[in-house]
Amino acid sequence: MALLETKNLSYFYQDGDQRRFILKDTNISFEKGKFYTILGQSGSGKTTFLSLISALDEPKEGEILLDGQDIKKIGYEKFRRNEISIIFQSYNLVPYLTALENVLVAMSITENELPENHREVAYNLLDYIGITKNKADRMVNQLSGGEQQRVAIARALATNVDIILADEPTGNLDEEMEQEIVDIFKRLAKEHGKCVIVVTHSNEIAKQSDEPYYLHKGVLKHE
Ligand SMILES: Nc1ncnc2c1ncn2[C@@H]1O[C@H](COP(=O)(O)OP(=O)(O)OP(=O)(O)O)[C@@H](O)[C@H]1O
Ligand SMILES: [Mg+2]
Repeated sequence: MALLETKNLSYFYQDGDQRRFILKDTNISFEKGKFYTILGQSGSGKTTFLSLISALDEPKEGEILLDGQDIKKIGYEKFRRNEISIIFQSYNLVPYLTALENVLVAMSITENELPENHREVAYNLLDYIGITKNKADRMVNQLSGGEQQRVAIARALATNVDIILADEPTGNLDEEMEQEIVDIFKRLAKEHGKCVIVVTHSNEIAKQSDEPYYLHKGVLKHE
C-alpha cells in the first residue's frame, strides 16, 4: 500500500479572473524503500509540489494521504513535525550551533519515539553519514557545503520519519560531492526502507533513482 499519495492534487495562482495552474489533477503514490526523483524545468512547479506534500502549503483542490488518511485530518503541523523531514539546497542549519547540536534540536522537537541517549545516537548518525566526532563538535559554518548537507541529512534521519524530501539538495555541490550525497539517498531507501523524494535538475541523479518522474505543464509523468 502507498505510504504517501496524492489524489487529484491541484494548485493554481489566481491571475485576474483566470487560474494559472501549476499542478493539475496530480495522482502519484510513493512507497517505502524507494528513491524517487522529480525532474522539471525551472518554474515547472517542483518546489510547489514539495511544499504541498510537506504540508507547508495547502492544496487548492484534491488531497494528500498518509497511509490512506488525509493529512489535513492528521493536522498539518503534526504531520510536519512527526512524519517528514526536508532537506534544502541551502542546508538550513542553525549557524551558531555545532553539527551535533543541530541534530539534537531536531530530536528534541519530534514526538516520535527515539532512543533515550540522544547524544550518542546523534554522534553515531553523523558518523554514519561521514561526519566524524571532531567535525560534529564544530559550528556548522566551519564545515564545507558537502559536510553541511551531510549534517542536514543526519538531522533528517534523527527524527525517525519514513519520508525524506529534498529540494535540489546537491544544487550547491560539485559533481563528486553530488554523487556521494546521491549514494546516501540510495542507502536510505535500500538499507533503511525510507521513502526518499528528491527534486532535481540533474538527469544524472534521475537516472539513478528507482522511479524518475518529470513535471511538465502541471502534469507529473513517469519517465
Ligand atoms: N506568489 C506567487 N504568485 C504567482 N505565481 C507564483 C507565486 N509563487 C510562485 N509562482 C510561480 O509558480 C511556478 C512554480 O514555481 P516553483 O517554485 O514551484 O518552480 P520550480 O519548479 O521549483 O522552479 P526552480 O527549478 O526554479 O526552483 C513558477 O512559474 C512561479 O513563478
Ligand atoms: Mg524550486
